[in-house]
Amino acid sequence: MIRHYQDLFEQHLNAWCARSPQNGLYAPMHYLLRLPGKRVRPVAVLMGCELFGGDMRRALDVALGIELFHNFTLMHDDIMDAAPLRRGRPTVHEAWSTNTAILSGDAMLVEAYRLMITTPQVLETFSRYALQVCEGQQLDMDFERTVEVPVAAYMEMIRLKTAVLLSCAFECGAIIAGADAADRERIGVFGERLGLAFQLRDDLLDAFGDPATTGKQQGGDLRAGKKTYLLIRALEIEKARGEEVLLEQLRLAPEERDVPFMLAGLERSGAPEEATRLIAEHERHGQEAMDAIQVPKESKEPVLQLAAALGARVH
Ligand code: IPE
Ligand code: IPE
Ligand code: MG
Ligand code: MG
Ligand code: MG
Repeated sequence: MIRHYQDLFEQHLNAWCARSPQNGLYAPMHYLLRLPGKRVRPVAVLMGCELFGGDMRRALDVALGIELFHNFTLMHDDIMDAAPLRRGRPTVHEAWSTNTAILSGDAMLVEAYRLMITTPQVLETFSRYALQVCEGQQLDMDFERTVEVPVAAYMEMIRLKTAVLLSCAFECGAIIAGADAADRERIGVFGERLGLAFQLRDDLLDAFGDPATTGKQQGGDLRAGKKTYLLIRALEIEKARGEEVLLEQLRLAPEERDVPFMLAGLERSGAPEEATRLIAEHERHGQEAMDAIQVPKESKEPVLQLAAALGARVH
């Protein structure tokens, strides 16, 4: 069922790529966009629109705008995270250069805006959330150099860097369908909870996922000293046990850290199980927000399938 939305979006994306210039600035954009992403956010726009009785074809440009924005964040995020792989292929800054990835990413952000301007309320919503994504990214980087990050600060960081873009996608779809403010709020909460679960799972996959399916380097977060939920909790737990195994690793320069050793430390702490429980909790709260939306049960089927697919994802 999700496939249907992905296919519709993919056609729209391919047509856009075919219309835009093919060289220079645009080649890295097309390279990244055409790698196999899950298309979660554009699908969320289409589903948010359809849930409230809108014609999802009218939401395709906004769906594209959100996916362009997401890919802009990925292109720049990979520079910030010194990531060599994305979607199973070399990152843009590796395949071209950092300067190319900066400029091509900037241009992708401009292209995203061009697609958002037709509906003022969409533009306002998108702008507000897009800025929050940047705030979240800044916190993510700040926390690399902060020794003790409280779990609550981490949750706020991932709400900003990841979860709000899911809220944004569903809300923009709902706006196009003409949903009222209360329903826009509910679908926004659903998106945010799904997004929090999404980033917690992303952190788990970074540590324990198979690079063959994630398409990313394993343990990149540990090498960079990212304060993921796993690392924060494992540091708290080892401190309570009077140990400093992970803390000592973090005192080393990133290239000197022993990532497999750190992974073993995370596992010993029990933090991965805690993360899994927390994911289930956020998914449950998301479900409650969805329950409060007064539309026929069948209309909710696609969004619930999307949530289930994200709950089982391995990439
Ligand atoms: C990656 O997003 C960035 C995060 C917010 C974790 P996705 O996991 O949705 O990446 P693609 O678009 O499917 O590649
Ligand atoms: C992604 O966080 C957040 C944004 C891109 C805004 P990550 O840095 O964890 O994403 P991945 O793991 O590289 O996809
Ligand atoms: Mg990052
Ligand atoms: Mg990253
Ligand atoms: Mg990650």
